[in-house]
Amino acid sequence: MANRPPPLIGTHCLILGAGSVGRLWGALLPDQTVTLVPRAGRQETRCRYRFQPLSGPARSVDLPWASAVADLSDTDLVLVTTKAQDTPDAITSLLTRLPRSVPLVLFQNGLGSQQTVLERAPEHPILAASTAEGAHRTETDTLVHAGAGDTWVGALNEAGRGVLPEVVTYLQASGLDTHPETNIEARLWQKLVINAGINPFTAILDCPNGDILDHRFFRQRIDGLCNELAALMRHEGLPTGTAGELRHRIETVARATARNTSSMRADIRNHRQTEIDFINGFVARRCEALNLAARVNRELTNRVKRLGKL
Ligand SMILES: NC(=O)c1ccc[n+]([C@@H]2O[C@H](COP(=O)([O-])OP(=O)(O)OC[C@H]3O[C@@H](n4cnc5c(N)ncnc54)[C@H](OP(=O)(O)O)[C@@H]3O)[C@@H](O)[C@H]2O)c1
Repeated sequence: MANRPPPLIGTHCLILGAGSVGRLWGALLPDQTVTLVPRAGRQETRCRYRFQPLSGPARSVDLPWASAVADLSDTDLVLVTTKAQDTPDAITSLLTRLPRSVPLVLFQNGLGSQQTVLERAPEHPILAASTAEGAHRTETDTLVHAGAGDTWVGALNEAGRGVLPEVVTYLQASGLDTHPETNIEARLWQKLVINAGINPFTAILDCPNGDILDHRFFRQRIDGLCNELAALMRHEGLPTGTAGELRHRIETVARATARNTSSMRADIRNHRQTEIDFINGFVARRCEALNLAARVNRELTNRVKRLGKL
């Protein structure tokens, strides 16, 4: 029997990770095209929540949960919107139920989890998305679209390159500003620099982004942190600047988002696990493996992890 051709992208999309990012895309992608994948053991069949768009009134969203025994063979796309530390396990339990032609789009911040997915799902088209959209959930189960920004999508393997235009076209139907990116790795690194230079300081100092800039704890470490990042990026052959340019970029973003609470500070405040292992922890591990200096990134990683245990 001839193999069935892969289905057209944009009719049966799964969202793995029904949190802030997952529910944002779930609310905005075309009706009837999205099913949410629950954690194991969830019994409900529908996921209902309020959606507060950037402007205008809130509305109700009602999406199906995929059951644990559902036939997923007609799935044409998976958006993976779990936190970085949850992604490998979440993916692994889904992979056995998916045809190998199904593209996976990874939305995780930081680096490290993407590599694990590439190793576990080598036959799937794998793409990454770097998004500046901001979303959070309130205690009353409302998903708030808190800030608009561009979403860049690019391929992490050869099979991903082939489906990139179709994936981007479907994601654009959400109305969110979504663009194809030929060098998504470089974009993920650029975001890593900003996250590594802001998030741990806001978590340790328990302050909004802008307040880190005048703090002695930040001023004593930021040059060391940028030296470590610049040396690592040079070693990885990435387009980078000098350590001074990285510091300038970090401080510009901290000023532009001065009143914002970083996701890492929010995670610590809400007693949730942070993504530090995929931000400064990733930089520290990579530098240490290459015998490059990692003192500041290691110190920040350890301090944030200790905070999480308090
Ligand atoms: N929020 C933003 O504005 C934003 C912006 C840019 C990038 N990001 C990045 O996007 C990623 C997701 O962030 P988020 O804010 O959406 O996180 P989140 O709100 O914590 O959502 C993650 C979701 O994944 C679910 N999950 C975890 N393990 C699972 C499993 N094994 N099977 C099924 N579902 C599972 C969690 O379920 P429970 O609800 O049961 O815990 C949660 O609903 C992160 O890497 C983040 O850094 C977020």
